[in-house]
Amino acid sequence: MSSVMRAVEISTPGGPEVLKLIQAPIPTPAYGEILIKTAYAGVNRPDALQRAGAYAPPPSASPLPGLEASGEVAAVGEGVTQWKKGDQVCALLPGGGYAEYVTTPAAHALRVPKGMDMRQAACLPEAYYTVWSNVFMRGGLTAGERFLVHGGSSGIGTTAIQLATHFGARVFTTAGSDEKCAVCTDLGAERAINYKDEDFVEVMKAEGGANLVLDMVGGSYIARNIRAMANDARMVHIAFLTGPKAEINFAQIMAKRLTVTGSTLRPQSDLAKAKIAEELAEKVWPLLNAGTVKPVLDQVFALEDAAAAHARMESSTHIGKICLEV
Ligand SMILES: NC(=O)c1ccc[n+]([C@@H]2O[C@H](COP(=O)([O-])OP(=O)(O)OC[C@H]3O[C@@H](n4cnc5c(N)ncnc54)[C@H](OP(=O)(O)O)[C@@H]3O)[C@@H](O)[C@H]2O)c1
Repeated sequence: MSSVMRAVEISTPGGPEVLKLIQAPIPTPAYGEILIKTAYAGVNRPDALQRAGAYAPPPSASPLPGLEASGEVAAVGEGVTQWKKGDQVCALLPGGGYAEYVTTPAAHALRVPKGMDMRQAACLPEAYYTVWSNVFMRGGLTAGERFLVHGGSSGIGTTAIQLATHFGARVFTTAGSDEKCAVCTDLGAERAINYKDEDFVEVMKAEGGANLVLDMVGGSYIARNIRAMANDARMVHIAFLTGPKAEINFAQIMAKRLTVTGSTLRPQSDLAKAKIAEELAEKVWPLLNAGTVKPVLDQVFALEDAAAAHARMESSTHIGKICLEV
């Protein structure tokens, strides 16, 4: 095996054009890690934030972008017993997915679901880890509850709609076009609200209020979410696309007994991520194996076209996931 590989680096903080194809050393798996020969790498919003200089990788992570990939196990580090060379996996990564080889803790990999190809498998880890940990583990969504997810056509949104529907929640979502709304209802949402024409607050109030809100928009949505929530409801923040600051009337939080929380995945401990992977393997992978839920794929770009992939994501014209063929 050669000691160098093709990879995409962030040459300097900036727009999509700063993503450059380079030769980089092939990483070596440390204790408890696997080396994956990447087939496809998923593209996520946090990659664009990192590229723009607004989301620094944790100190121990690869500075190369890429938080998820599918591929074949090429080598295992000491202490790894659950995977062997040749196994087909998809994995959450600390970084470095836009490359021919990447290392990650063995406990953060999951088997490629039955009947799924490597392209689809690359689109699973980031969205499924994020949705499972925030909607179910943190947000405690249960059957029969009214669940409002913003950005329903995003990678995260399409995953949240399918899983929440499967587990018996009533799903309401927002999206920026009628075409996106139609995709959301096809995936199981009871109601998709084109936020350019309609006020989600009024829709949710007419339904009795949301019991759980998954928010990625922030800004003015924060106060509006609170107005759209039922008594004893929860709001989980995973991003602030329009900004993290808002003027809130905390009396409403007290009067409705609301819980406001949130999380980011990447800085969490290896152990916390392994715990999410365990729950996914037990509760969600059987659904993927059965084809009950599946990733929604928007477009595949070649590794060297990572800049075009980022530009498409930032245009918000995409529906579902974008990935790179490595
Ligand atoms: N906390 C975590 O651990 C974590 C992990 C992964 C991702 N995230 C976050 O979750 C969000 C979704 O991630 P993703 O990878 O699925 O991204 P994505 O597919 O690009 O989703 C973003 C979606 O938000 C909608 N949106 C609403 N208001 C927007 C605005 N002002 N600007 C841009 N888009 C807007 C867009 O659709 P419309 O046309 O409907 O507006 C777009 O589809 C991102 O913000 C990402 O940073 C958080």
